[in-house]
Parts: sequence; C-alpha cells; structure tokens
Amino acid sequence: MSQQQQWTAMDRYFTDLLGTDDKVLEAARRDSDASGLPPIAVAPNQGRLLQLLAQVRGARRILEIGTLGGYSTIHLARALPADGRLVTLEYAPRHAEVARANIARAGFADRVEVRVGAALDTLPVLAAEGGDPYDMIFVDADKDNYPHYLEWSLRLARIGTLIILDNVVLGGEVLDPAAGPRAQGIRSTMEMLAREPRVSATALQTVGDKGWDGFALALVIG
Ligand code: SAH
Ligand code: DHB
Ligand code: MG
Repeated sequence: MSQQQQWTAMDRYFTDLLGTDDKVLEAARRDSDASGLPPIAVAPNQGRLLQLLAQVRGARRILEIGTLGGYSTIHLARALPADGRLVTLEYAPRHAEVARANIARAGFADRVEVRVGAALDTLPVLAAEGGDPYDMIFVDADKDNYPHYLEWSLRLARIGTLIILDNVVLGGEVLDPAAGPRAQGIRSTMEMLAREPRVSATALQTVGDKGWDGFALALVIG
C-alpha cells in the first residue's frame, strides 16, 4: 500500500466508525462533483472538526471565506443555534449556485447567506454593514490573498473569536523556495500570525484522504 492509500484507508476507518459522514453530506459532495466543481472540499472528519470547534466556541455568528459547493459550510452551520447566522463568500457564481442548493437541502437556507463576488470586494461591504463581530471565521479561498483575509478577519472579530485557516501546508509547497504566489501567500500569513500580538496561534499538519496539508488556528486575545 502506498502512503497515500494508507492515509485514505485510515480516514475511511475514522469516518465510517465515528459516523462523520451522512446522506446530506454525501449528496452535497455528489452534486458538487456532478457540477464539475474541483474536489477540494474539507474531508468529512475535518468538517466535523470545524463543527466541533464552532460548538466549543459557542459560535452564533460564523464567517467563511471560500464556499465552493457549501460542504464545509454545512458542517459549520450544524454548530449554529436556531437564530445563528453564517455568511459565506464565494467568487464563482456557479459554485455559489451549487452551494445554495446543497445548503437548502441540508436545511440551512434560513441561517446561511452565500455572497457572490471577490472576497476583497465583499468583505468591505460586510464591514460597512456594521453587524456584530463573528465568533468564528474559516478562511479557505485563494491562498495568495490569505494575508488580506487575515487582516479582514481581525477587523471583523472580537476577543475570543477563533480564526481557522485551511491549507497551510499545500503538500509541502509552502516550504518550497521555488513555489509560487500561493505558497508565498501562506508564508506571509504565518509570519503575520507570528508577529500579531492580538492572537495566540498554532498550526498543525494533517495527512489523510486529501494528502498532506494543515490548518492554522488563531484565537483573538487582544
Ligand atoms: N470551504 C470549501 C472549499 C473552498 S475551495 C469546503 O471545504 O467545502 C476555495 C473556494 O474559494 C473556491 O470555490 C473558489 O472559487 C473560491 N475563491 C477563489 N478566489 C476567491 C476570491 N477572490 N473570493 C472569494 N472566493 C474565492
Ligand atoms: C486547494 C484548495 C483548497 O481549499 C484545498 O482545501 C485543497 C486544495 C487547491 O487550490 O489546490
Ligand atoms: Mg481548503
């Protein structure tokens, strides 16, 4: 068995045993694939981690940057109370359309808003609307803009907000000196976290069905 096959088998073992997958999530993945969206959503066990972290945080307001087919969105929405709210930002209208259908089927059309546009255009609008700060923010859109997304996340946060950034390893690309703007975007973001006094941050590597990648977690403390 190759290393990747072992990682996939282990993910399948956890997911089957713990029941981190279900019909609604399967249908969301199936329709995303059938609509030609790239297969880059979080894995079922990673999605459940997002849900658990939002529940631990007691999140009532969640922001997501990078919706794709709404797969991680559904996991996060499951953590919300009935009067909770999740805003998710997506550049591609087709992705947003698929996501809205998946989110509606999951029963969250009332709590989740998909906003279409480049996040660097929709984030200032969101900020100008002046709603309450977000309790949890999941950053998962274009990697080159992560430094800007971290800045906006801090602006839309409060003390106690948990910021999670996906794909901070990118199969090792992030430490490759020859890697392009995506890796550079992640490295700049990690350097910002390192010198940012308003957060307490860490990062973890993950292996699994999605290969070698990782999450950064930053708790806003000041
Ligand atoms: N969070 C999703 C995966 C997101 S994939 C999940 O785990 O299920 C990244 C998404 O970010 C893609 O749908 C892509 O279209 C979107 N994206 C890329 N550039 C963007 C931008 N500038 N603004 C908003 N979304 C963007
Ligand atoms: C890519 C993007 C993601 O958000 C992800 O989780 C995995 C891969 C990518 O663009 O390659
Ligand atoms: Mg991702």
